[in-house]
Formats: sequence, structure tokens, C-alpha cells
Amino acid sequence: MGFPVDFLWGGATAANQIEGAYLADGKGLSTADVVAAGSHGVPRELTYVVQEGKYYPSHEAIDFYHRYKEDIAMFAEMGFKCFRLSINWARIFPRGDEEEPNEAGLCFYDRVFDECLKYGIEPVVTISHYETPLHLATTYGGWTNRRMIEFYERYCLTLFTRYRDKVKYWMTFNEINVICYHPWHAGGFGSLEARDGQTEYQAAHHQFVASAKVVQLAKTINPCMKVGMMIAYSPVYAESCNPVEVQMAAEAMQRRHFYLDVQCRGKYSAFKLKEFERKGITIHMEEGDERILQEGIVDFIGFSYYASTVVTTRQNAESSSGNMIRGGVKNPYLEASEWGWQMDPIGLRIILNSLYDRYQLPLFVVENGLGATDSIESDGTIQDDYRINYIREHIREMKKAVELDGVEVMGYTSWGCIDLVSVGTGEMKKRYGFIYVDKDNEGNGSLQRIRKKSFDWYKQVIASNGELL
Ligand code: BG6
Repeated sequence: MGFPVDFLWGGATAANQIEGAYLADGKGLSTADVVAAGSHGVPRELTYVVQEGKYYPSHEAIDFYHRYKEDIAMFAEMGFKCFRLSINWARIFPRGDEEEPNEAGLCFYDRVFDECLKYGIEPVVTISHYETPLHLATTYGGWTNRRMIEFYERYCLTLFTRYRDKVKYWMTFNEINVICYHPWHAGGFGSLEARDGQTEYQAAHHQFVASAKVVQLAKTINPCMKVGMMIAYSPVYAESCNPVEVQMAAEAMQRRHFYLDVQCRGKYSAFKLKEFERKGITIHMEEGDERILQEGIVDFIGFSYYASTVVTTRQNAESSSGNMIRGGVKNPYLEASEWGWQMDPIGLRIILNSLYDRYQLPLFVVENGLGATDSIESDGTIQDDYRINYIREHIREMKKAVELDGVEVMGYTSWGCIDLVSVGTGEMKKRYGFIYVDKDNEGNGSLQRIRKKSFDWYKQVIASNGELL
């Protein structure tokens, strides 16, 4: 009983939130590099250039680019079985539409993967995590343009070939469903004001086709590769048993399932097609797209889970502050994090069950964690019991899903295993890590790494394969 012996315990990150070195060794600018501090949640003033006098958190981030050895050694000390990271597309193809990749960029990830493998840590790679080469955004309109499929395929062919024997687990797009909420991050186009549904769903279609194509491509290069999808997934509850609210919650879940249906069942759901019809949205498909989607079903489902949401029919109900993807109203049974995310460990068991029930594919919890303010005690320690409690309760519920409900879970990677830049706010203060990084919201600090109390706790969780919580 308990977790399988080969369960992938580890931590998760994304390139633009950790690497820094934003122009090193031939890297091009990415969409993340022009998002100044303070404009993260609501990027209303996108300028597509780096402006003097502004602070851009991705430019240095936590300087993983130069400190990866030290960081990976600490992950190994915790006993990580895997490390989820993303590749920065603009390191490999600085503009995105070149024929030939940037060798120095490829070498960097060779070094990172070799370092992981040295400790027996399996890299889990997100191919596109909230960044696109800026040139593709400004010249082609990002994923609104079908040509992105060809650029992405070339990028993937390069990665799969180069890292054929180093990387087994891949995910095609981080939180693919976020394209409708945050198209700049997830699709390299638009701003909040420009949202019209038509543009976002057409861009999503291009990502679906691109993803399906490279799922197939990976198998031709190394049949052992496992290529997954990745979605921001969480339960939506009705505030009461009023059937109207129950229906609202069910519809909200259908909207999430749309992305899963395409990537795990190979087709658009009837529900979504009807919604498109009502809203006058037409997806332009080319001949062969439907077949590509059917043939490119993913091998596993990766998802992020932080909090659940509640919907209501009540007017003026107090909203939960959450971030823009989450939202909803207050749940009186749950406590919220400092950033308003309503913490709900049982929600994890609920969604593990519903995902497995619907798709019967292995599940991978690739993001879960608590963003909190940490303080350093006078003796230099960081007593982050709140983080331990959050993760402990989530692992407990995940364990029930495995042991009691028979759900197939491949692994668990805690988000931001080392403190990193927040996507939602651009802050450093919103810390998720087992490892503290000395840097503040304005970019000051020595970048020194400090083990928090949760570091030893997580080490013991992994060593006991989830028995000692
Ligand atoms: C997920 C993203 O939405 O949530 C991560 O995949 C992100 O990139 C994480 O960092 C936590 O959100 P935030 O806003 O606290 O950084």
C-alpha cells in the first residue's frame, strides 16, 4: 500500500521565474522579459520593449542560470526523484523563426540535465511555460497565428533530438487553459482589454494541434518518451444545493474539461461546440486537424492545484480575492492564504478522482504549494510551519486518492521548491520554496540560499515515500 516505489517526488519551477541571465549566450527576449514589476497581474501597459528605469523581475530572477549546480545539489539533498523545469524557447531559438538553433542555449540545458542525472533526478520538462520569443509575439501575433505550429514543431524536434537520452517526461504547454485569461503569458498575444473569445480559442486550437503533433513526433525519436498535457485544474463548488448554483458549478467544470477533452479524448466536447455556436465563435480548422488531434492524445495529465472556488447566485456576495484565474466567492469552510487563495486539501482528492474517472490516464500533480511571506528568525532559521501544514494536508489527501480510491498518480512536484518570481504579481515576497532566496520585490539581496524548516520535513517525506508526514 501507499505510494508506488517509483513515485516521482520533487519540485517544480519555470525558466523565466528562476533563470535570469535574460540575454546571456545569445538568448533572445521573451514575452516574460518585457513584463515590468507591478504589471504582472494586469499587463495593461505592454510595450514590447525593455524600458529604462523599470524593474523586470525575469532579468535576473534567482540567477539559476549561474547557480544551477548549487540548487540541484540542494534538491538532491532533499532526495528529489524528479525536477520539473521549463526550457526558455528564446534560449534555443532567440527569435523563434530561425532555421538553426542557438548552440549555447542547448548547451546550458545539457549541463542542467547532466547535473540532475548525476544525482538520479529525472528532469520533467515543460516545453512552453508562460513565455514565447518576443519576436514571435510582435511579428506574428503569437499563437493567434497558425505559423506558430511550425515554429513550435521545429523547437520540439530540436529538443527531442538533442535530449533524446536525457529527458523522458515532457509537457507541451503549461496551464493550457490559461490562454483565455492571460493570453500574453500563455499565448504571446493580446492584453486583457482585447479579449473576445474568438481570438483566444483560435489560438488555443493552434496550441492543441501543435501539442498533438509533437506527442507523435516524440515517439518517432524515442518511443520511451512520455508526453503530457498540463492544465490549471481545481474544483468549483456551488455555494448551496440550489440546483441553479449546482448547474453553474457544473458548467464551470465543463469549461475546464474542454481542454482535457481535446488533449485526452482527441476531440472538442459537444458542450463547448454549442457554446461556440451561441457566442458566434468559429474555429478555423484545416483539413487533417481533427485526425491530428485524435492521434496526438497525451500520455499523462499534469495539473496545477492550489485552491478551490465557489460560485453563487447571490448578488454582491463577498468575493475571494484570489488571483485572476481563480476568483469566486468566499468559502466559509476554508481558510485563505495571505494572497486570498482558499486552501482546500480535500479538493485535491476530489479532482484526482474526477480526472481519473473521466480520462483513465496517469495523473501528475506538477504544481501545488503555498505562497507565503517568510521571515528569518534571529538565529537565522526560517520556521515555515504553515507551508509544512499546507503540503502535508495535500499529500495526505493525495495518498487517500491513491490508497483508498485507486487513482493512478505518477508523482508530485511542489511548486517553487526554491523561492522564485511570482507570475501573478511579479513579487519575490510571495515565497513557495523549501529553500529561501535572499532577494526582495525590488531586486535587492545577495541571492544567498537558506534551507527552511520545510526542507528537512520534505526530505523525510521523500525518504519515507510519503509515510512520514
Ligand atoms: C501557476 C503557474 O499558475 O501558478 C506558475 O504555472 C505560477 O508559473 C504558479 O508561479 C503560482 O502563481 P503565482 O502567481 O503565485 O506565481
